[in-house]
Amino acid sequence: MYTSQAFRFCRFNFAHSKSYESMTEENQNEGLTEDEKALLSEILSEDVSDLSEFGESRRNFLKQLTMAGGGILAFELFGGQELLASPATQPFTESIENAVTLSFKVNGAKKSLSLDSRMTLLDTLREKLQLTGSKKGCDHGQCGACTVMVDGKRVLSCLTLAASCTNKSVTTIEGLAKDGELHPMQAAFLKHDGFQCGYCTPGQICSAVALLSEAKDGEMSYVTANVQTNKGAVILSEEEIRERMSGNICRCGAYPNIVDAIREVHTGKGVAQNWEFVDDNQASNTSDLPKNDNK
Ligand code: FES
Ligand code: FES
Repeated sequence: MYTSQAFRFCRFNFAHSKSYESMTEENQNEGLTEDEKALLSEILSEDVSDLSEFGESRRNFLKQLTMAGGGILAFELFGGQELLASPATQPFTESIENAVTLSFKVNGAKKSLSLDSRMTLLDTLREKLQLTGSKKGCDHGQCGACTVMVDGKRVLSCLTLAASCTNKSVTTIEGLAKDGELHPMQAAFLKHDGFQCGYCTPGQICSAVALLSEAKDGEMSYVTANVQTNKGAVILSEEEIRERMSGNICRCGAYPNIVDAIREVHTGKGVAQNWEFVDDNQASNTSDLPKNDNK
């Protein structure tokens, strides 16, 4: 109802922008309502001396403008409401450019996805599969926060196209624990406090797990001695671990503890922690604690 009134006001204003005489004729001939006719005759009864050289008085012009504005506003308000109230007839469907179908395994479960052929493995894991353990640090292959394993080999998932993982098996940090038991590397990171903020930790742990396999398979590194004579598994010295983990950056600087955690899992022998909990006596006697002189 309001919308049709608004249209009438608009039509009325367009009509009134014509000459004075033709408006009078139109007033008689047009099928206006009684209210509209009254309004029109009020405007037309304005003193002719009000007419400017452009044939329009300022007062009338403002009146028309107000009506036109009200009409348009009413149209926008009520027309908009009707538009919003009308039920959506088409369900929203995501359109995918360069679509390909990807079938692969993620943490042992088969997955089949339709995605843009340019989508990275990292975005696929995080955005399509809601596996947000793998972190996006730099998105440029420089920090290692996105490290996952593809067929047991570590890769930077931000530089790996998901489509290249067809029929492969991807393991992320979410897939390391089994039956509620942490992977030994996860447990060692906890024991040795191998993290602070934890942002780099999923990538560090995936990298460390793959590193053990690489060493077992005899893969050399830049610091491996006697590369020509070295056969079989590589013993991971602290230097080897540091070199092989150098692609995983930790902004918190938890490196010594990360190395301890990897050494412990690699050797299977306990490595002493470089930190300890205070016991109850120490906790109750604060004089045993180191003094902080930095005021
Ligand atoms: S996010 Fe992939 S290397 Fe930094
Ligand atoms: S624990 Fe914070 S970046 Fe490594």
